[in-house]
Amino acid sequence: MKKILVTGGLGYIGSHTVVELQNEGFEVVIIDNLSNTTIEVLDRITSITGIKPEFEQIDLKNKKDVQQFFKNYSIDGVIHFAASKAVGESVEEPLMYYENNIATLTYLLQEMNANNVRNFIFSSSCTVYGQADKLPITEDAPTKPAESPYGATKKMGEIIIEDTSKVTGLRAIALRYFNPIGAHKSAKIGELPIGVPQNLIPYVVQTAAGIRECLSVFGDDYNTPDGTAIRDYIHVVDLAKAHIAALNRLLENKNKANCEFFNIGTGKGSSVLEVVNAFEKATGKNVNYKIVDRRAGDITAAYANTSLANKELGWKAELDLEEALRSSWKWQESL
Ligand code: UD1
Repeated sequence: MKKILVTGGLGYIGSHTVVELQNEGFEVVIIDNLSNTTIEVLDRITSITGIKPEFEQIDLKNKKDVQQFFKNYSIDGVIHFAASKAVGESVEEPLMYYENNIATLTYLLQEMNANNVRNFIFSSSCTVYGQADKLPITEDAPTKPAESPYGATKKMGEIIIEDTSKVTGLRAIALRYFNPIGAHKSAKIGELPIGVPQNLIPYVVQTAAGIRECLSVFGDDYNTPDGTAIRDYIHVVDLAKAHIAALNRLLENKNKANCEFFNIGTGKGSSVLEVVNAFEKATGKNVNYKIVDRRAGDITAAYANTSLANKELGWKAELDLEEALRSSWKWQESL
């Protein structure tokens, strides 16, 4: 049985990926510092799969703890989710973001190298493309200057990993996520809301639940059919499965370069108003909204060309927008 380290394994995408790893017969060790989640998620994962993953409460900023971890465990591959991800906060606290997302990545790669752990999956983001010149976005589209320190950490992360893979035995896959949404069908795990949501779907869901009065739609003067911005919303369970496909590619030596990049989305763009309508249709719930000014830093449209991931990873998104929105609503109700 292969043993996989999942950093940030109690977070939103991490927890769904742990479930899929266990479903596929992998043994999982989670590292999490609980900075943006709770230990209860460990029991919730266990209640879905019937298997309790091993867990170490470690902060990857503590290099000594990372060193000790790799002395204690024999690991076949690492899926690295642990990172801070709030765009606005990263603008206020850039050094915190560079320490949390970059210093930790270097420690992890150093210890992997020291212990001959070669297989690495990295959580990257479509944010590396900025506003792409061509849609849908292919992996060879040029990366653009980051709009925030958060975005910069994803771009830098890719560079650090690629440089490392040139001179060590590291074999890496960076998955560039489009917009992850939804929750596990059991409604036992999902995105934990902390404070006022910044992302669209949590805000929509909380508005429907009466927690928020009204959704602000940021801009209806974009150059899109209905004037609202377009994104590629992917079900988190499909996204989780992409990690298994990427991991298997490395474990089976099917990778074609030491460092590879794949878009992970559905390939379909939806506007903000289309999302609101799809949510109302999927759940029968009403969402109050008003149009307000654009949000600084937002782009007009982004959606993935997923051909490369389809072909090379043998992976394809299977769940549609309405199903994802229904699962988000079910998760909200369970809260
Ligand atoms: C955001 C981040 C991105 C990050 C991703 C993580 C920004 C500028 N980008 O992506 O770097 O990787 O989250 O999940 O923050 N919207 C509204 N009203 C709201 C919230 C959002 O109209 O209350 C609109 C936004 O303008 C956007 C769309 O909904 O057009 C999606 O927004 P969001 O869910 O925040 O994701 P991104 O901005 O695409």
